Amino acid sequence: GVAKAVYDLRMETFNKIEGDTETLVEFNIRLIGRQRLLNGTIVSHVDFDDTFEFGGHVEAFINGEWKPTAITGRVKFCTFMIMIYERYFESSFKDSDMPKGREACPFKKGEYYVRNVEMHAWEWATFAVRGLNRFELIVLKNNISYGGFVGTGFLIDRTS
Ligand SMILES: *[C@@H]1O[C@H](CO)[C@@H](O)[C@H](O)[C@H]1NC(C)=O
Ligand SMILES: *[C@@H]1O[C@H](CO)[C@@H](O)[C@H](O)[C@H]1NC(C)=O
Repeated sequence: GVAKAVYDLRMETFNKIEGDTETLVEFNIRLIGRQRLLNGTIVSHVDFDDTFEFGGHVEAFINGEWKPTAITGRVKFCTFMIMIYERYFESSFKDSDMPKGREACPFKKGEYYVRNVEMHAWEWATFAVRGLNRFELIVLKNNISYGGFVGTGFLIDRTS
């Protein structure tokens, strides 16, 4: 079989995006230390259920321009938490009280911490483009944005 490619994502920037009219989810995250680990809190001001959806896309910086990648789409909130967050991201959130798996839906109103998160981009090989990427994720309902984040980072082959 083919060895599974493993990438790390070295974060460069991380900024929260305010909602169109109100912000119901806040990603209060800073990048800390030389390794630029994600650190801070995620605050949800309401319970998020499947009346909300996630919209997101990734762009890759190629030949001096941001180009769309195959990673784009919209999914219902719970589908995202169970099919995407749990599969691709949860393993990176080692020191966090974020709800896991099915407990993440509905995603209860509250403040959750994430401490020193290093993104291990397990299993992204089929979709990912090495190098500088920009990713944006927002929470929507009826096409209105209620908050999200935009980040940039280098996707690099794992060395250790
Ligand atoms: C990292 O995040 C935790 C949890 O929110 C916080 O207590 C701590 O002060 C943060 N550390 C830094 C250096 O910002
Ligand atoms: C949301 O926007 C998409 C595309 O911009 C459109 O196809 C869809 O009908 C809109 N949905 C609602 C609920 O307005």
